[in-house]
Amino acid sequence: MAHRMASAHNKAVTAIYPGSFDPVTNGHLDLIGRGAMIFDRLVVAVSHNPEKGPLFAVSERIEMLEAVTREWTNVEVGVFEGLLVDFARAEGASVILRGIRAVSDYEFELQMAMMNRKIEPQIETVFMLPGEAYSYVSSRLVKELARLGGPIKGFVPALVEERLRTKVS
Ligand code: PNS
Repeated sequence: MAHRMASAHNKAVTAIYPGSFDPVTNGHLDLIGRGAMIFDRLVVAVSHNPEKGPLFAVSERIEMLEAVTREWTNVEVGVFEGLLVDFARAEGASVILRGIRAVSDYEFELQMAMMNRKIEPQIETVFMLPGEAYSYVSSRLVKELARLGGPIKGFVPALVEERLRTKVS
């Protein structure tokens, strides 16, 4: 038993951090940094879901994510279509990482985590809290601010700020 536990412990853990990332915010980056510290490999997975009517094309979202995650050697950026657990399995991941900002996030996250556990019991969802400075930052609100000409500095990386301004102008 002691031996089995030791070998399970030595296994490199891959975590998937899925989302729309339309676009990546400083809140996402904060969570990526925290995840990169505790998991051996972190795959940021951009969901390809045209029905959601994203502002940025998948290729643009990936490009921005790759640029802003370059400093972490154990972070990769991928894209997935279809079921998240299928992608996680294909990547050899045992963890799905999600951030919870406030209680309001919890209900939906609980449903997703339970559903994912039902369809793939081998994969655990792990929730982490972003830094409190980002507890109210969301891609949706940042896009709205940008559209209405509000200040977005500090909510998104400089590169994303530029791309957002161009996109909505
Ligand atoms: O950034 P978001 O929009 O909160 O991310 C939601 C996402 C992409 C993680 C979620 O919609 C998802 O996992 N979609 C993939 C489809 C899937 O696996 N659905 C079953 C989960 S219950």
